[in-house]
Amino acid sequence: MNERIAVVTGAAGGIGSATARCLARAGTAVALVDIEAESVTGLAAEITAAGGRALPVRCDVTDPVQVKAMVRTVAREFGGPHILVNNAGILSDSELHLMSRADWDAVHAVHLRGAFLCARAVYRHMARGRWGRILNLSSVSSLGAAGQANYAAAKAGVEGMTRALAVELGPLGITVNAVAPGFIETPLPQGAGGSEGAGGAWSAAAAETAPVRRAGRPEDVAATLAFLAGDEASYITGQTIHVDGGLPLGRLSLDGCGVEN
Ligand code: NAI
Repeated sequence: MNERIAVVTGAAGGIGSATARCLARAGTAVALVDIEAESVTGLAAEITAAGGRALPVRCDVTDPVQVKAMVRTVAREFGGPHILVNNAGILSDSELHLMSRADWDAVHAVHLRGAFLCARAVYRHMARGRWGRILNLSSVSSLGAAGQANYAAAKAGVEGMTRALAVELGPLGITVNAVAPGFIETPLPQGAGGSEGAGGAWSAAAAETAPVRRAGRPEDVAATLAFLAGDEASYITGQTIHVDGGLPLGRLSLDGCGVEN
């Protein structure tokens, strides 16, 4: 089988770097895309030293010019791309009365506009070979979370866009799915709730209430993304796969009903 080429955005972060490592171990060449140029250069060196192929590309996914240039660079240096993981993300949490228009716009720009721009820039390359995988990161927060009106709306939008693109691109041989993590131990949720470090309390609460009784690891999400990126997942499209240890279900606790859990 010919080598596949993946673009992973937000590759300097927790889930992005784990996903890039996982894909590279499976023989996929990975373009490591992030605004943090130094971190992706280090990760590329690590993957290359382990025998994989990796290309660091500095790119702000909210900027259409940079996104176009990034995809051109990947196509020129590596070929493809065949796989896109729209993973770049930020939080700007606050209660509604404190949430500024800038908080709203910044979160939507990275999660929604960024995913749209990257999908639009890669899909023709995928359609040419009639094989492609677009994977979008949603979140358990799309169900609704206090202080996250901007983030919950953006992630619900990502799920809607996933379904629309699945319908549109399926006939071209491209599947489009979303993965919705619960609480995953990475730098991102440390700023949840609007204050640095609040994520620590969330992590402990998530580990206590999730049926699997632990917080998630970046590798939990990476393994799911890698499966969806592979040939075995060719009949799955337009779906949101929840990788959350059952976290939302844990809220329906049977405490007080005489059931030990
Ligand atoms: P992280 O903070 O560890 O990594 C995010 C990466 O995105 C960073 O390297 C950052 O530099 C990059 N980034 C931010 N803005 C960018 C831009 N404009 N252009 C290019 N790169 C940009 O975050 P984490 O936890 O790895 O999250 C990855 C994805 O998973 C995000 O979409 C997030 O919303 C989602 N997610 C994470 C959860 C968690 O508990 N960690 C839970 C649910 C969803």
